[in-house]
Amino acid sequence: MEIIIQPSAEAGARIGARIVEDLVRKKPEAVLGLATGGTPLGLYRELIRMRRELGLDFSRVTTFNLDEYVGLPPAHPASYRRFMRENFFDHVNIPQTHVPDGMAKDIPAYCEYYEKAIRDAGGIDLQLLGVGHDGHIGFNEPGSSLASRTRIKTLTEETVAANRRFFASEAEVPRHVITMGVGTIMDSRTCLLLAFGEAKARAVAAMAEGPITAMCPASILQMHPRTIVILDEAASRSLKRAAYYRHVYANKPAFQRLSAFPA
Ligand code: GLP
Repeated sequence: MEIIIQPSAEAGARIGARIVEDLVRKKPEAVLGLATGGTPLGLYRELIRMRRELGLDFSRVTTFNLDEYVGLPPAHPASYRRFMRENFFDHVNIPQTHVPDGMAKDIPAYCEYYEKAIRDAGGIDLQLLGVGHDGHIGFNEPGSSLASRTRIKTLTEETVAANRRFFASEAEVPRHVITMGVGTIMDSRTCLLLAFGEAKARAVAAMAEGPITAMCPASILQMHPRTIVILDEAASRSLKRAAYYRHVYANKPAFQRLSAFPA
């Protein structure tokens, strides 16, 4: 796990976007795994700027989103399909986007289809992730099997409360979701996890320096061969080895500094 601590969320988002840019330039047919929530918004804004100002080309890129609420149609203001359209897809030129279908009639069959679609696309090159306050990734709540695949999950009350801000009332927040599993996420070639703000500090420390446990699903990323974590100062505050992570980043060999992906 490479941990990059930046002075601000904006600086972190810029580095994250440069990592995505680097991949898309080297592998124009890249498969990106995408995330919703407040955390990746700055990164999406930066990629949109790169599209407009630098002509970054997404015309051969395919995307798969992590999760979606069960029962929300794609046009619902709080659906993750709508979030992705408004914050990213409508502003770049990606032809093939996938967000789990929250209206699927046969959810287990749909989840199998989603897994197969990822495999058929060649697997995910880079999976963008945020982290929940309780250490969830995607919507894999504590207790999720660390080998799980795409499936239906029931949200914890804490996650319902955290996501209430996107809905008119707490009663409207769906209790069920379709999410890529922890095992699905672990199959990605690179994971890029962003976390900003003091409210994430505890989850970040548990993820990076705590035991690997289903009680903190993000902790399984310690077993991933290539995970990059980008934090701001506040989110890094509970890390015991923050000074070492800064030292590593400041002293990266030149070949690693220039590019995250081999040519
Ligand atoms: C939701 C999403 C996650 C996201 C998390 C944190 O649970 N399913 O993918 O990482 O919220 O959201 P935020 O970035 O808004 O803090």
